[in-house]
Amino acid sequence: MKSLTALLILITVAFNSNAQVYKLPELGYSYQDYAPYIDAKTMEIHHSKHHQAYVNNLNKAIAGTAMETQSLMDLMFYASFRSDVVRNNAGGHFNHTLFWDNLAPVVAQSEISPELSLAITEQFGALDSLKVKLNQAAISRFGSGWAWLMVTPDKKLAISTSANQDNPIMDVSKERGIPILGIDVWEHAYYLSYQNKRADYLTALWSLTNWGSVSAKYAAAIKDSLLIELEKDSWPALKDFHKVMAQTFHPSESGNLQPLRTRSTELLTKSMLLRISIPPKSLDKKELHDALSRLEKACYYINEQVNKNAKDAALTKAIAGAHDIFHEVQGLCHD
Ligand SMILES: [Fe+2]
Repeated sequence: MKSLTALLILITVAFNSNAQVYKLPELGYSYQDYAPYIDAKTMEIHHSKHHQAYVNNLNKAIAGTAMETQSLMDLMFYASFRSDVVRNNAGGHFNHTLFWDNLAPVVAQSEISPELSLAITEQFGALDSLKVKLNQAAISRFGSGWAWLMVTPDKKLAISTSANQDNPIMDVSKERGIPILGIDVWEHAYYLSYQNKRADYLTALWSLTNWGSVSAKYAAAIKDSLLIELEKDSWPALKDFHKVMAQTFHPSESGNLQPLRTRSTELLTKSMLLRISIPPKSLDKKELHDALSRLEKACYYINEQVNKNAKDAALTKAIAGAHDIFHEVQGLCHD
């Protein structure tokens, strides 16, 4: 019996070997090193209590589910499909990790890169103007949330804000991009020293901002393929078609043609709307439009076959063909 228990433990460990367990990141400095801009007690509570709670709650929420083997990016990117617990705690962990990483005592800070400096000058006029705009955004965020400097899919800089622990990677955000600087405007970030004076906290925070770290994030973000995913995700017609395709094709793989028989007209309509929609600028090319035309024809054929009450085998073949073309479309979006 003892050996069986040991074996079960071994199997459980092996089975979960890819399971994700999130950990609280260590700060690069001690809590008192951020003073006088942020007091040691605030840093300690913020890091060891608030951030630790996001980590603990996230681990608890994903334990024993398929989310255990998914990346933090995936958990956030598809936030609209997640429970509030996963959405809030995945965001809480990511946002705070980014926040700490960009903070350093003055003596430990490194300089802004020429590339980020140029991008800021071109878009905001000067670094000081950017700070003013970010402060305005942070002050105007009602209640708890974040202000962001992010890289958008067209590789520009943009400012946005989000409520609670949301961020621009999440599909629940209107403005999407990769955040490179986040400003925590929850009261737990500043209340002990600054009480209700959020503006004073924001001014102090700039003294702790390590522009060398923000620059490294900028350099990584403009090369990140996540920008393409964010751009595709902002093409509503593609998302709409994908949904109906998934909900009709996948049942057909296991012999259930009923969803396709019921929704073939909807599939055709979505394919037509997709063909006449305007793709995001960087994806707009002839090969893509050709593939969308073939996809529409394939959906037209499927609808015709359904109206003729064709046999399951014929419909299975037809939807598989359309699904192949849709994969081609998705592939062209990745090139
Ligand atoms: Fe916070």
